[in-house]
Order: sequence, then structure tokens, then C-alpha cells
Amino acid sequence: MTHAPSFRLKPTTHVLVLTGAGISAESGIATFRGVAGMWENEPLQAVASPQGFASDPLRVWRFYSERRTSAAPCHPNAGHLALVALEAKLGERFLLVTQNVDGLHYKAGSERMIELHGNLFTSRCSSCDRAPFEDTNVYRDELPHCGECNRFLRPHIVWFGEALDPSHLNAVTDFMERASQHDFIFLAVGTSGSVWPAAGFVGLGRQAGARTVLVNADPAENRGSFDDFVQGKAGEILPTLFGGP
Ligand code: OAD
Repeated sequence: MTHAPSFRLKPTTHVLVLTGAGISAESGIATFRGVAGMWENEPLQAVASPQGFASDPLRVWRFYSERRTSAAPCHPNAGHLALVALEAKLGERFLLVTQNVDGLHYKAGSERMIELHGNLFTSRCSSCDRAPFEDTNVYRDELPHCGECNRFLRPHIVWFGEALDPSHLNAVTDFMERASQHDFIFLAVGTSGSVWPAAGFVGLGRQAGARTVLVNADPAENRGSFDDFVQGKAGEILPTLFGGP
């Protein structure tokens, strides 16, 4: 770990946190990119795109079933818990936006939280308007069907080529607008900065006057957009980043 700075929270400090797969690495969940990354073993287009689902839905369900099985027993780590403690200090001056679908921020107790790319333990119909629902089942041999229209169910995940929920993006820009009137810190944790629009949040934060901080094991692709880069493990750095408990 490099020498970690500590940021003093003022009574008006607003903090927007963006997390990626790196924050869950210490909980035993594989990241996407890098040597042991998930996208090294599975072609991304085959398992994380609407085209992949249209051509081989069972392959897609096997991939996400495997991920459900491996993520279910995992526990939040010190990094997730540090963000819960930060939210307890800041209340409405805090917002967590995660690209992770593993549900570990929920398990940790984060409340002001947006799951930008969906949730691994939620399914929805690939066709009708039935609301997304909790689903911890695994589907390896047979495709699941919607109880209402009988078309295939699909994971409630935002795949490549699909749009994010506009209400999520609005919540991020609304928070930034509010924060821009005050002391504002934008903190990105455990993300390679390679997937948009999340990779562009640091730029929006800068425009809104934020001090921008990256906590990551390696320099992210967008590292140059950050004022501060603290290199190391999220679970070691986050608990002390705002002066400890
Ligand atoms: P990546 O796998 O692209 O990047 C994870 C980052 O975390 C890397 O830069 C690592 O250096 C860093 N890292 C690893 N262990 C860490 C640790 N213990 N502490 C801090 N940093 C650590 O994951 P994301 O940036 O989250 O989308 O990927 C973004 C999106 O691309 C994902 O949400 C996913 C993927 O394709 C979908 O599936 C839709």
C-alpha cells in the first residue's frame, strides 16, 4: 500500500462513492479484467450481451448460475463495512453507486446505494413487463420460463449494448448538483475505469468541483482524471481514509 492520505470530513462534506469489482476481491469474488479475470475465461459478448442471450440462452444462464453459486457464500469485507460507517456519518450527504452485481454492499448494510449494473440474485422476464424478482436458483440444464407469459427469464443484469436505468443516472447527477454547492469528494474504489458511463463519473465530479480520489490495486485506465491515487487494497485503505472510526 502507498502512503494513504486521510481526508477530513467537514459538516457539509458530500461523498459520492463509485465501486467496482476490486472492492469485492478480498471477499473472494473474481474481478472481470486482469490475469485471473472472468473475461479471460468467457467471451464477454457470448455471456453478457443481448446477442449472446439470443443465440445461446442456456450458456448465459450457466455462466450466471456459476456466479450465483460462487457469490452466495461470500461475505462483505472491511472495505464494504468502511462505506457503511461513512454513510452513518454523512447520511443524506452520502451516495454509493456500485457496478457490482454481487449484493455485498446490501449484505454489509449500505442503504443509500444504487446497483448500476443490476443484481445477480434478481431475474426478470426477457419479454413481458413483469417486475424483476429475487431469484437465487441456478439453471444449468433447463431454461427458466416466465410464470406469466412463458418466455425465457433472464438475469437482471445490464449487459453490454444495453442502456442503464435512467433513474439511476438522474440520481447520480442530482446528487452531484447538490454536492457542487458544498465540500465534495468523489471516491472511486476497485474499478478499472474502462466501462462507461461509470468511467465518466469522475469527469462529471470534477466539473461539479469535487476532489477526486481513486483507491485501486493498479492504476485505472482513467487514473489521469483523479487528483489523488491511493494504490493498494480497498479493505486495507478504506477503513482509514476518512480518519478511522
Ligand atoms: P474490473 O475487473 O475491470 O477492474 C477491477 C479493478 O479492481 C482493477 O483495476 C484491479 O486492479 C482492482 N482491484 C483488484 N483487487 C483490488 C483490491 N483488493 N482493492 C482495490 N482494487 C482492487 O472491474 P470493474 O471496473 O468493476 O459489467 O468492471 C466494470 C464492469 O465491467 C463490471 O461491472 C462488469 C464488467 O464487464 C458488467 O458485467 C455489465
